[in-house]
Amino acid sequence: MNTRNTLYVKDGKLYIGGFAASELARRFGTPLYVMDAAYIAEVCDAFQSAMATYGDGAVAFANKAFATVATAKIAAKHGLWFDVVSGGELYLVKSAGADLGKVLFHGNNKTVAEIEEGIVDGVGFFVVDSLHELKLLDEKAGAAGVVQDILVRVNPGITAHTHEAVATATPLSKFGFGVDTNAFEVIKDASQRRNLHFRGIHSHIGSQIYDHSSYDAAIGVLTDFMKRLYDEAGIVTEILDMGGGYGIYYTDADPKFTPKRYAYTVENIGKRVKEECAAKGVAKPFLIVEPGRSIVGEAGITLYTVGAIKDFPSVRKYVAVDGGMFDNPRYALYESQYSAVLADKADKPADETVTIVGKCCESGDIVAKDVKLQHAEAGDILAVFSTGAYNYSMASNYNLNAVPPVVLVDGDKADYIVKPQTYADLLRNNEVPEWLK
Ligand code: LLP
Repeated sequence: MNTRNTLYVKDGKLYIGGFAASELARRFGTPLYVMDAAYIAEVCDAFQSAMATYGDGAVAFANKAFATVATAKIAAKHGLWFDVVSGGELYLVKSAGADLGKVLFHGNNKTVAEIEEGIVDGVGFFVVDSLHELKLLDEKAGAAGVVQDILVRVNPGITAHTHEAVATATPLSKFGFGVDTNAFEVIKDASQRRNLHFRGIHSHIGSQIYDHSSYDAAIGVLTDFMKRLYDEAGIVTEILDMGGGYGIYYTDADPKFTPKRYAYTVENIGKRVKEECAAKGVAKPFLIVEPGRSIVGEAGITLYTVGAIKDFPSVRKYVAVDGGMFDNPRYALYESQYSAVLADKADKPADETVTIVGKCCESGDIVAKDVKLQHAEAGDILAVFSTGAYNYSMASNYNLNAVPPVVLVDGDKADYIVKPQTYADLLRNNEVPEWLK
């Protein structure tokens, strides 16, 4: 557990914000996602101060990590830009009242409709990821009578130290244009398009990365590439977008970072960009970073009620909860590990090794495998830590389970930011054709 002033144990109970987790479970039911507004705000501010040490730049919240109108409002209030990756996310930040000029529209295969919507909405930057998109965007911007600002996603060919499924800048990645292959020609092409304004490059090397050296290596490659663009084609890279990817604490195998420590990562990126640009004679760019997980990940916990417990002596003990892969598919996808505690037994010894499983019809429906836990009984409230990123945003209605609601806590306030789904919600879009009636 990575405790902080809004996540701690008192008198044997786990607290988040000003609330005992078990009290939230009683009031709102389980399964329940709980998000800590104060922590989100603190990380946003820490990133903003880090960016201020660089100078001209912006921190964009990668909305895909946790997409709700309320959290987008918090990010906007703290001056963050947004990274969106679909028409749906664009609609969300628009609903949150964000300044759409500070939105970066990502995606390796934006649809025609998404491109048109983005242009009409006045999205600040499209991050172009394919030649198909470049042509389409030029055509649609022309039709709308606008000159659209773009960044081009380049792939520095760095293998970040992280899980294969979330590494995005290896030479074989589906994202971007390789700096060693066609990125140079594509940018030359982009900079000559009548309805597009090439403003800079973007790169996102992966996710859940702790190691600075991966960013340092990428900055080295990217600033070399910026120099080449200028020297060989006279193209100035005004903006360098370094993506996101900062790793968070899930288990004791991970470092326990604080918001200040995340800020340090961004300060370091800024410092490195400055140094490399100065050494290579490249103009210092406007710097963008796009953290997602580090802003919301540790802000979130998920509360469950323990149900069936099955003990296979000297093999495995299963503790089943009323959620599972429909609210957290990350074990099934990446074998991700989590730590957990029984909310009202938090000061008891965690001396049992158990596998926490969900209620879905899948053997891979695991929340946390072989974790240390206090002695569990049916009816206990179980809290899983660091579930704020890519849990709610990747949730599904598998087995027609309702996606749990989300409650935001801030000091003594706790309210829904996503309401519970009803059975009727689950069938809302079902139709029975006339000929079946
Ligand atoms: N920028 C771009 C272009 C991205 O693709 C991503 C994440 C981010 C920023 C934010 O990265 P973060 O700071 O959150 O690591 N579903 C996976 C993670 C996928 C990340 C996708 N891109 C998971 O649950 O671990």
